[in-house]
Amino acid sequence: MKVGGQHFRTIWLNPANEQVVQLIDQRFLPHRFVIEEVSTVAQMAIAIREMHVRGAGLIGASAGYGMYLAAIEAAGSPAVAGFDQHLANAAAQLKATRPTAVNLAWAVERQLTNIAKGKSEPDWHKTVQRKVALALATAKEIAAEDEEHCRMIGQHGLSFIEQIARKRDGKPVNVLTHCNAGWLAFVDYGSALAPVYAAHDRGLPVHVWVDETRPRNQGSKLTAWELGQHGVPHTIIADSSGGHLMQRGDVDLVIVGSDRTTRAGDVANKIGTYLKALAAQDNEIPFYVALPSSSFDWTIRDGSEIPIEERGAEEVKRADGWRDGQMLEVSVAPEGSPAANFGFDVTPRRLVTGLITERGVCKADEKSILELFPEHVS
Ligand code: MRU
Repeated sequence: MKVGGQHFRTIWLNPANEQVVQLIDQRFLPHRFVIEEVSTVAQMAIAIREMHVRGAGLIGASAGYGMYLAAIEAAGSPAVAGFDQHLANAAAQLKATRPTAVNLAWAVERQLTNIAKGKSEPDWHKTVQRKVALALATAKEIAAEDEEHCRMIGQHGLSFIEQIARKRDGKPVNVLTHCNAGWLAFVDYGSALAPVYAAHDRGLPVHVWVDETRPRNQGSKLTAWELGQHGVPHTIIADSSGGHLMQRGDVDLVIVGSDRTTRAGDVANKIGTYLKALAAQDNEIPFYVALPSSSFDWTIRDGSEIPIEERGAEEVKRADGWRDGQMLEVSVAPEGSPAANFGFDVTPRRLVTGLITERGVCKADEKSILELFPEHVS
């Protein structure tokens, strides 16, 4: 995607020094565009936990690069046991950062499997070089795959917007989305917003209702910013407005992302998604979930098994913003009141019209999902 006319991914290797990862530090958007340099696995763990990077696909890609940095660090070990121990510690450290997006553990495991393929030789130096090269190749592969899968999601989801546009007589197609499942949540393109970008680039009139997404405001801060950068018409709404807009006939379809979807089609996504799905069903509005295959958890069926992140109460009791070039935080609740901060909820498959994946669209049920991904039939 383009920022000020220049193409950016959300994460990449420093072209002058491939031992350093560069990423867009999303804490400062939409007010400042800050690029952070990360050169240790500990720094990458902080970047994921403190949400400098966030969104399922980008968390996975960051974990992939984090394991590459861990391999570089481990290369200083004098023997294989030390190398393996450092990687195991790094894997545990990264996995502990955030619990819900399954892409995190998926990327870490993929790295461990691939790095282990670099067999030990009598010359330890050569072995280590091979393992680091494998980690680098895997990190690049995870990122490139994420980008390509999101591009494909855009192509598959485009047809739904096209179908509605044909009936709208030139009036914009109104898409409602929750949180940020755009290119900032992935390496590029996004999941839920990829069909929107594809439609806009085709010249179809499309307008997006952007849920602000309290408490961290990924909608009003990130989704609105990236849609604006791409020139897509959009309107920010308070989280509780969606049902009203649907009743008025002002929403044609809902597209959201997913942090983890079970093999049977239950969908974990940002807190508040379930309420949108209920309102969409009551108003007979299609409710689509867009996700790359890296966001499926093939080991579980029931959404109640998905770990739901709980974050600090201060995110609910405070709000931040910019004034005179400075980030300011203000209190928006009584100091003495407790607050609960659930990061995600689960939308049961019966409320999902369809899943848009890189391989095509399917119903949210185990049979249909496995028809698209037969390698996971067990
Ligand atoms: O807490 P976040 O910002 O990492 O949450 C991720 C999200 O933005 C949403 O849940 C999104 O819709 C799915 S991730 C592509």
